[in-house]
Amino acid sequence: MTAENDPVPTALARTPAAASFPPGFLWGVATSAYQIEGAAGRDGRGVSIWDTFSHTPGKVANGHNGDVAADHYERYEQDVALMSELGVGGYRFSVAWPRIQPDGRGPADPRGLDFYGRLVDSLLEKGIQPALTLYHWDLPQALEDRGGWRSRDTAFRFAEYAQLVSEALGDRVKFWGTLNEPWCAAFLGYGNGIHAPGAVDPAGSLRAAHHLLLGHGLAVPAIRASAAPDAEVGITLNFYPVDADSGSTADLDAAHRIDLLQNRLFLDPVVEGSYPADVREHFERVCGTGHIETADEKIIGAPVDFLGVNYYTSYRVAGGGEPDGPSPWPGAEDVRFIDRGLPRTGIGWEIDEDGLRRQLVRIHRDHPGLKMYITENGAAFDDTVEADGRIEDADRAAYIEGHLRAVHRAIEEGADVRGYFLWSLLDNFEWAEGYGMRFGVVRVDFESQQRTPKRSALWYGSVALANALPD
Ligand code: FCB
Repeated sequence: MTAENDPVPTALARTPAAASFPPGFLWGVATSAYQIEGAAGRDGRGVSIWDTFSHTPGKVANGHNGDVAADHYERYEQDVALMSELGVGGYRFSVAWPRIQPDGRGPADPRGLDFYGRLVDSLLEKGIQPALTLYHWDLPQALEDRGGWRSRDTAFRFAEYAQLVSEALGDRVKFWGTLNEPWCAAFLGYGNGIHAPGAVDPAGSLRAAHHLLLGHGLAVPAIRASAAPDAEVGITLNFYPVDADSGSTADLDAAHRIDLLQNRLFLDPVVEGSYPADVREHFERVCGTGHIETADEKIIGAPVDFLGVNYYTSYRVAGGGEPDGPSPWPGAEDVRFIDRGLPRTGIGWEIDEDGLRRQLVRIHRDHPGLKMYITENGAAFDDTVEADGRIEDADRAAYIEGHLRAVHRAIEEGADVRGYFLWSLLDNFEWAEGYGMRFGVVRVDFESQQRTPKRSALWYGSVALANALPD
């Protein structure tokens, strides 16, 4: 204890104070369809590129796939009840396109729409705000067979699908996201091929990025046509602050190209309605610009109500490396990613809490007035189940707390952040890593499908309830 007139020790003076969030701040959790639903062939669901990819030997760790996953399709009511018990106010989920249009075109399958209608109703009954994402990577395989996102036509198919979902749920869903992380869909899907559909085609991956953005721009008015006037429509991008390893021209150029490919290629056309000149030049160099039609950028720039920010880590990069194998950085294959020696999460990503503050403040500075939600942030760690069944995941709780403090600081610095969706509610199918990486604040026993809230879930619920971080 420090007596009143003792000088305050520095360590204490730096102890963060209780941090209150603005009134109405939305505290949510996030998941995606392929990662939790299971019920792969149920009720007419078509085949997606992730079904094909995960069933291809060697593509996913341990040969895992999403056939059963967390069986959320059957257990959604239990999962909604769990969210309600935790005190969560919002739920970001995605719709599986192949449940709505098994072949990616034609009329909607009522069984697919009905599932999401029931999910939305049960959320609303519990006072939880549904936040719907239309595309979290599970493209109908039939569309991939016609070229997938490398084909311009897929953008138009996506807008039709968006319209079908909006017609069915537009009366109840007030928060609409078009795409989740088009960087991953384009560059992991068609660049280095570690995600579905597994193509290695640098030029094609840049074309895919454009067609994803075009699909977003076409979907925005298609959603608005049937959604309530107060519905918010936006997109989720994954951001990484990028620093150069030194002031050398080569390192600065490397940082410039990674920032261009990771952050600005996607954000700038969405909010400004045109690609920056250096992005266009990059297209020119790697794949040409023949695939960009005159009106496209205006379409991509359809006004959005919010930006969804996904954040996990940041990068330090250097130039002058030797390209080694397929890369998710078309036109930047020579860039080296520097190990900063920071602590890492279980999936190997360096932990940089302040990177989130920097990223939010930069977006606020570059695009003043843009309303943001953190649509994903969270951490994989190996969990230990204690003899009495508890999971004391202090590491995950610390990761979340550190990042929430960064969000709080960004708000103090002027960033307009309205909510935070924790990734993830449940342990789930972590794409190429399979079930080995656990991101959930609720543990899932994939044998019994039993759910057990971890300590981080209980802690997060108490923060949501208080609308503040503790002292
Ligand atoms: C993001 C994805 C999400 C999950 C997290 C860990 O890139 O959007 O589905 O895999 O990473």
